[in-house]
Amino acid sequence: MTEATTRTRPVNLILLGPPGAGKGTQARMLQDAFGLVQLSTGDLLRGAVAAGTEAGLAAKAVMERGELVSDAIVLNVLRERLDQPDVAAGIILDGFPRTAGQAAALDDLMAARGQQIDAVISLVVDDEAMVGRVSGRYTCAGCGEGYHDQFKQPATAGTCDKCGGTTMKRRPDDNAETVRTRLNAYHADTAPLIDYYAARGTLTEIDAMAEIEAVRSGMTAIVGKLTVV
Ligand code: AP5
Ligand code: MG
Repeated sequence: MTEATTRTRPVNLILLGPPGAGKGTQARMLQDAFGLVQLSTGDLLRGAVAAGTEAGLAAKAVMERGELVSDAIVLNVLRERLDQPDVAAGIILDGFPRTAGQAAALDDLMAARGQQIDAVISLVVDDEAMVGRVSGRYTCAGCGEGYHDQFKQPATAGTCDKCGGTTMKRRPDDNAETVRTRLNAYHADTAPLIDYYAARGTLTEIDAMAEIEAVRSGMTAIVGKLTVV
């Protein structure tokens, strides 16, 4: 049983943070704990690239350079995903919004659904440590569970703890040079959203330099308070 059973309306969260901050790692744990749905625009775009859709073809080179994909493309893939019924219990936006334009569009999307963003959790980290986190990351090709060469290894090397899969993959943009471009994009276009949400009183900062389990515990406390409504 998840804590979703205590809710009377959807709970919608945003995880804000630079590349490597732990947005995906924490979103997957919150998804399992609270019955919410992780919506990673990075994952949606990678899916579009793999499927060879028009959006994927347009996004591929931009992502490989570590730059931001246009708001129009990102919003299209997100809207399509939000049309699916499984998001009814609530969502964890992982890596979205990333620009002022995306934040404004999200306000409109939420209003059209008669919903709101309940909390924005900003993962606070040191940029330099993010290069090592991202360079050491790999994921299970079967279920998407994330691992790290140093910080999060599976119990049996090469075998996913979650699904037992044995094929692991690394992202083409996970190299030191591209991470620096992604960090620059974060500071130029995304970090200003911290003030945008702080002004609304929905922002909570969390020390994401702590160990994964400590961050999880802090996140669970924040989200747990929201789910009893
Ligand atoms: P996206 O996929 O969102 O990548 P990102 O923002 O660069 O973030 P990451 O996925 O690298 O980091 P994360 O915070 O999820 O870290 P993770 O939990 O995996 O976007 C990719 C690209 O798509 C963008 O560059 C852009 O081109 C495009 N894009 C996507 N969304 C867009 C949008 N809205 N607008 C425009 N363009 C968009 O953790 C990293 C590693 O560290 C893992 O190995 C993990 O095990 C480890 N780790 C996690 N937490 C800790 C911890 N506390 N201590 C030690 N290790 C940890
Ligand atoms: Mg991620």
